[in-house]
Amino acid sequence: MCGIVGAVGHKQCSLVLLDALKRLEYRGYDSSGISTINKGAIALKRAVGKIVNLDAALTESPLEGDIGIGHTRWATHGGVSEANAHPHVASNRVSIVHNGIIENHREIQQRLESAGHHFSSDTDSEVLAHLFVEAFDSGMEPAIATQQVLAEIEGAYAFALMAIDYPEMLIVARNASPLALGIGDHACYIGSDAIALSHLTRKVVYLEDHDYALVRADGVSVYQADGALVDRKAMIVAASPGLVDKGGYRHYMEKEIHEQPDAIGHSLAAMTDENGHLTAQMPDDALRAIDGVVMLAAGTSHYATQVARYWVESLARVPVACELASEYHYRQPATKPFNTAIAISQSGESLDTLMAMRYAAKCGMNTIGLVNVPNSSIAREADTVLPTRAGPEIGVASTKAFTAQLTVLLCFAVALARAKGHIDNSQASSIHAKIQALPGLVGKALGLFDVIRPVAHQLSSVRSALYLGRGALYPLALEGALKLKELSYIHAEGFASGEMKHGPIALIEDDMPVVALLTADHLMGKASNNLREASARGAKIILISDAKVAKEVDYATSVIAVPTIDPLLAPILLAVPVQILAYLTAVEKGTDVDQPRNLAKSVTVE
Ligand code: F6R
Repeated sequence: MCGIVGAVGHKQCSLVLLDALKRLEYRGYDSSGISTINKGAIALKRAVGKIVNLDAALTESPLEGDIGIGHTRWATHGGVSEANAHPHVASNRVSIVHNGIIENHREIQQRLESAGHHFSSDTDSEVLAHLFVEAFDSGMEPAIATQQVLAEIEGAYAFALMAIDYPEMLIVARNASPLALGIGDHACYIGSDAIALSHLTRKVVYLEDHDYALVRADGVSVYQADGALVDRKAMIVAASPGLVDKGGYRHYMEKEIHEQPDAIGHSLAAMTDENGHLTAQMPDDALRAIDGVVMLAAGTSHYATQVARYWVESLARVPVACELASEYHYRQPATKPFNTAIAISQSGESLDTLMAMRYAAKCGMNTIGLVNVPNSSIAREADTVLPTRAGPEIGVASTKAFTAQLTVLLCFAVALARAKGHIDNSQASSIHAKIQALPGLVGKALGLFDVIRPVAHQLSSVRSALYLGRGALYPLALEGALKLKELSYIHAEGFASGEMKHGPIALIEDDMPVVALLTADHLMGKASNNLREASARGAKIILISDAKVAKEVDYATSVIAVPTIDPLLAPILLAVPVQILAYLTAVEKGTDVDQPRNLAKSVTVE
């Protein structure tokens, strides 16, 4: 969370910094700010709210200067206010932007305050600016000062700093929060990711944990924690559209829902080898050696793992544990049955997932990173990368990345099952053919907007809703409830429909909406009975199923039917109407669909 940018050597850099911040707005959008050094003084502009507000403030009075830093915030410490917006300036000499959490900031602030430093925000970040003032005051050069500051702070950070005493350089450092350095022809840049810099340069150096660097217009010097200079190779990152537009759609989310046929098709292509067979991007011997998989993820990506567990266990007979990344490594898990960890993350930057993957690696597991962003931290640290090719996902609520993750995970399950001899080539080819048909079926499901609109209209006026599913549709029920609550702020819960009778059925009262996910699998009869039990107690059943199943259901108040589909693939296809329902409900309610309150796209704090 939080996006940081910087430039040195670029004339009137505040304009390119503003552009770069717009590309990072997905990381947080509580407040933003830019500072430059102009005529020997720090110039500063900050604004509460979205970056358009900063844009307006800069248009009114632009900032001059060819060195600057910028920030878009997702508040951790200190409320949303201009005083807490970054950059933070200490003693009119040092200006800093920070992403992460300085865990020992209280002790440091107390020490500095008793030494006479005056703080002007409630943030943890401001201590960084004061620590640098203190280090410079004691006569330290930038590299030594940085080493000293890093030795004192604890926590996750990526920061960039400018100092009046050193107006030709940015000082940057990272630990567990991403940071990319962009090398231009006559200027250098920094950004929380390469997308932020894609309008400036494609030549990028990624810092590793505990690295720090001095960034000047003519190049960068990178140091390791012990102070030794280190050669971190520059790479040319793929051309990125950077500031992706909405392509005529009203919201990024609507556009991204419509991009799912491509996202699935391209992800499938990435999991297909040169002979046209499904591959897991590793040799059969390595696949045969997999005897247990722990899947690590957060939020929607976690629900993708829960669906995948059904596929990997039923097809490949390999035990799977789906772990919430934020819990996993803190509970000292027994890891013995698992020799492989898959970290699943759209951004590849979720700190919880990265930390959980690192723990798994430390326990000796082989790590696989399933990510949508190439060169992300998880991609760079995993032993093997399984890419989803969904393209940049800008809407904060994940849609196309989720169905792309499911597609890749199903391909992985099939490749694993075939390598282990649990299915033969013809069974693998038959599932492959069904996955190949998915983009077309998803395309048809996209025609459901008009069917779903009146259902969303009714849903938009309720206070609470339930989502029910059984088998591999249970995680999709959880995902549906998450989508509804995060987008429309309606309270929603997902349950395994067989669990209702063990407690949650007490919630059912007249007219309570229950979104029922149903497919023609071996559990359909039992799942239908569970839904009838809810209907008998007054629930309004909104059925989401395929056309064939829909014909057999006589207890639904509303029916949303996708084309008939093999139950194995139903979680992928049914995800589409689930997303459309949440999207249209939020549109009805008039909430901020692409940037829901309190959220950020890339969650780089624990
Ligand atoms: C919800 C959503 C989040 C993310 C979660 C993990 O719509 O998008 O729950 O799925 O924050 O993010 P990644 O996949 O980037 O690790």
